[in-house]
Amino acid sequence: MNMAINPPGKQRDHELQVFFQDVITGLSRKQKTLPCKYLYDERGSQLFEQICELQDYYVTRTEADIFAHDLLEMAGAIGADALLIEPGAGNCEKAEPLLAALESPAGYLPMDISPEILLAAKHRIQARLPDLPVHAAVGDFTTDTAWELLPSVNARRRVIFFPGSTIGNFDPDQASALLAGFVSRLSPGDGLLIGTDLDKDPVVLERAYNDSDQVTARFNKNLLHRINTELGADFNPALFAHRSFYHPLRRRVEMHLVSLTEQMVHIDGECFHFQEGETIHTENSHKYTLEGFRQLLQQAGFTPIRHWADTSNHYAIHFAEVH
Ligand code: AVI
Repeated sequence: MNMAINPPGKQRDHELQVFFQDVITGLSRKQKTLPCKYLYDERGSQLFEQICELQDYYVTRTEADIFAHDLLEMAGAIGADALLIEPGAGNCEKAEPLLAALESPAGYLPMDISPEILLAAKHRIQARLPDLPVHAAVGDFTTDTAWELLPSVNARRRVIFFPGSTIGNFDPDQASALLAGFVSRLSPGDGLLIGTDLDKDPVVLERAYNDSDQVTARFNKNLLHRINTELGADFNPALFAHRSFYHPLRRRVEMHLVSLTEQMVHIDGECFHFQEGETIHTENSHKYTLEGFRQLLQQAGFTPIRHWADTSNHYAIHFAEVH
C-alpha cells in the first residue's frame, strides 16, 4: 500500500496553532463552543471505541446489523470495477467486508489523520484481498490537501463511502457543503454510500448520549484534559459536568460541559470567566428523517437511489448517484 503524507514536524506545529486559535475563538463566544473534531485525540478515540460497544449506544450496532444483512445488495447497487474512497476511514473495518463483496473492485483509497491506524489496516486488508490496489492519504478530509494526496486510479465509477453517521456531527449548512464538496470531487454517475442516524424517540436518544457507564461523560471531559496537556490550560475537569439532551426543533442531540461553579480558566495568558451553570457546547449529533436526508442529497447534487434501514427505523444507509 502506498501512503501519501505531508512533512510531520511542520504539520504538527501548524495543527497546534490552529487548535489554539479554534479554542480561543470558541471560548470567546457568548455561547462557549469547541469544535467536536477535537474530541478525537488518542484517548478520545479510545473512549469513542468504548462508546461504540455500549448497550445504550445503539448507533454502531444498528449500522453493523444493516451492513451484515444488506451487504450484497449494497455491493450490487455499486456494481463492478468501482473505486471506493473513504474519508475518515479510521481502521477501515467497515470497508473491508464491502470490498470483499464487490465485484472486481478497482481499488480502495482510505483517508485519515492517523498514519498508524491506516498502516495497521493495510496489513489486514492486503492479507485478505492481495490483488486490491490500496493507496492511503494521511490528512483531514475536510481540507483540499488530503484529497490532493489521492492518486488517480482507473475505474468504471468512483464511490465515496461515508459510514458511521459522521455527517450528523456537521450542522445542516456544513453537511450541505460537505456533500456538495463530495459532488465536486466526483463525476456524473459516480456514487455515495452514506450512513445516517434517524430521528426517533428522545428517550432512546438521550440514553445513548448519557450512558449508564459514564463513558460518554469521560469522552466529553477528555477535551478539557486535552486542552490542558496540549495548550497548557488550567481547566479543572472535576469542576465541569457532562450534559447531553435532545433538541426537538433542531432534531439533534447536543453535548455540553457545564461549569459547576463560577470560575476562571487560563490558556496561555488568555483568561475565560465561567458563571455557575454556564456551558461549553462540544458537539451536535443531528438526526435525520429519511425524507429530510434525501432532500439534503438532492440539493447537494446527488440523486437518492435507495436506502437500507433496520426494522425499527433507527438508522439508514443511503446509496445516491451524482446527477
Ligand atoms: C462520531 N459520531 C457519529 C458520534 C455521534 O453519535 O454523534 C459521536 C458521539 N458523541 C457522543 N457519543 C458518540
